[in-house]
This record gives sequence, C-alpha cells and structure tokens, in this order.
Amino acid sequence: MWPAALLTYQGVTNTLGPDPTANIELTTGYNTLLLLILSLGISPLRRLIPQLSWLIKFRRLLGLFAFFYGTVHMLTYVALYAGFDLNTMVTDIAKRKFITIGVAAWLLLVPLAATSTNWAIRKLGGKNWNRLHKLVYVAAVCGVIHYWWQVKTGVLSPLRLTVVLAVLLLARPVLAWWQRRKVRVVAA
Ligand code: HEM
Repeated sequence: MWPAALLTYQGVTNTLGPDPTANIELTTGYNTLLLLILSLGISPLRRLIPQLSWLIKFRRLLGLFAFFYGTVHMLTYVALYAGFDLNTMVTDIAKRKFITIGVAAWLLLVPLAATSTNWAIRKLGGKNWNRLHKLVYVAAVCGVIHYWWQVKTGVLSPLRLTVVLAVLLLARPVLAWWQRRKVRVVAA
C-alpha cells in the first residue's frame, strides 16, 4: 500500500510535483506491472526453493493489489487525461496503440480479479481456474509492451521489468523439464 499512501499524502499536501496527473499515472502504472510480475515470481521461487513455499499465501494478495493499482491507473486516465469524454477515449483507444494495449491488459485482469475468491475457485474447478489464470502472463506481456510504447525512443526504463518477466516466462518450461527429469531419475 506504500505507493498509494504516498500518492494520497502528496495529494493532500499538494506535493505531487509539477505534473500531478503524470505522477499518479506513472506511479500506478509502474506498480501494476511490478505487482503482477512479483505475483508471477512466487510459483517458480517455490519450486526452486521449497522452504519458501509459504510465499504462496501472498500470491492472491499481490494479484489483487495489481488489479487495484491497474484500476486506479485506468480511472486516472478516464478522469484526468480524457476528462470523461467518450469521444477522446474511443479515438485514443483506436489511434494510440499504447493505450489500446493498456486497455487490453486491464481487461485481461478483470476476469482474474473476479475469479479470485475461494467460491469462484470451487465453482470453476481447479483445472479451469488454473487455465484461466494463465491469462496473467498475457496481461503482463501486454503491460510490458504498453510500457515500451509509452516511453520516448532511447529511454530504457522498461528494460528491468522486461528482463525479469522474460526470465519468469522462460522459467516455467525449464522448471517443468527439470522436475520431469528428477522424477525419471528417482524412478530409474
Ligand atoms: C485502461 C487501461 C490503461 C490505460 C488507459 C493506460 C494509460 C496509460 C498512460 C496514459 C500512461 C502514460 C502516462 C504519461 O506518460 O504521463 C501509462 C503509463 C504506464 N502504464 Fe498504463 N494504461 C492502462 C493499463 C495499464 C496496465 C494494465 C498496466 C500494467 C499491467 C499499465 C502499465 C503502465 C506502465 C508500466 C506505465 C509507465 C510507468 C512509468 O513510466 O514509470 N498500464 N498508462
């Protein structure tokens, strides 16, 4: 909650900086992506270091916080960038590809947040729930593309999160292969 608390404090004390709208938009956008990527890191970390299995308790929390920041980010755009003007939003979504992919990323997060309760997991069944929640990878990739498309040419600030996400995407098949190999060795 630290970034949200800081933004609130800065808002109340009028210290959001020379461009308060950009400050809110950049802080919420960055934290959406950071929290998504952190939530994705938990499963591979558990497989690699079983002693860290307790981290699983925080995966849903991280995902829901990512959705919270993503929604504040989207609402900041709707209220402060587009001024609730539907025409501006439709034109932006159609013409500015970084907005289009940002909207896609947010829309992908909606069914994930909506099915995050124990009740939804039971209703969907573990297998379907897992399948649906793979969308988080697609949302994170869209988020990274959105980040690259909104920075000026030559600015490399999205690189760090891009590398972390690439490692996590690669870790999935590598860890699955490693686990299969371990099972074969034990069975042999
Ligand atoms: C309705 C959906 C979205 C809209 C309309 C939107 C719009 C924007 C806008 C206008 C900016 C640029 C702010 C500026 O240059 O002043 C921005 C930046 C950003 N957005 Fe989004 N976005 C959306 C969804 C998302 C989602 C779902 C994520 C993450 C998964 C995300 C991550 C980011 C990041 C990382 C930045 C750059 C932050 C930085 O430079 O530090 N956005 N977004």
